[in-house]
Amino acid sequence: MKNNYIPFIILLILTSCSNVTEEDLLEPIILEPEESINYTQHIQPIMVNNCTFCHNDPPVNGAPNSLTTYNAVVNSVNNSNLIGRISRETGESGAMPIGGPKLPQDLIDLVIQWQVDGFLEN
Ligand code: HEC
Repeated sequence: MKNNYIPFIILLILTSCSNVTEEDLLEPIILEPEESINYTQHIQPIMVNNCTFCHNDPPVNGAPNSLTTYNAVVNSVNNSNLIGRISRETGESGAMPIGGPKLPQDLIDLVIQWQVDGFLEN
């Protein structure tokens, strides 16, 4: 009899988890149905938050290239396999960001969609 409250505690935990997920994780990445991905709005923030710590201008920590401008990022997608690097699992050879963690899949998908949309700048 005294364990009757356990289902309520589990329910409480599940309910509070789903609230956090929707507000904190889903909201920033919802796109308008016809919205194209562009560098200034979508891609540059990903680079600033995850990459330019090393891929700065000039690059530091052994990074070979800068990812601080539109041209530099387009060039890296076309010529140095940027999408392949960010798609690798954490710990896999050549995975970026180096040392992990892997970017969330929705951010990787944004970079892929940006290439598909033709590298819009704005
Ligand atoms: C902690 C430092 C660091 C961070 C953060 C980092 N990189 Fe790197 N990156 C490196 C180093 C060091 C290399 C060279 C070693 C290698 O190629 O694996 C490299 C190489 C690369 C290369 C290959 C470049 C070439 O010319 O061969 C790409 C593409 C790349 N990084 C993309 C990214 C992206 C995109 C991010 C962010 C999602 C990122 N990196 C975050 C340090 C970093």
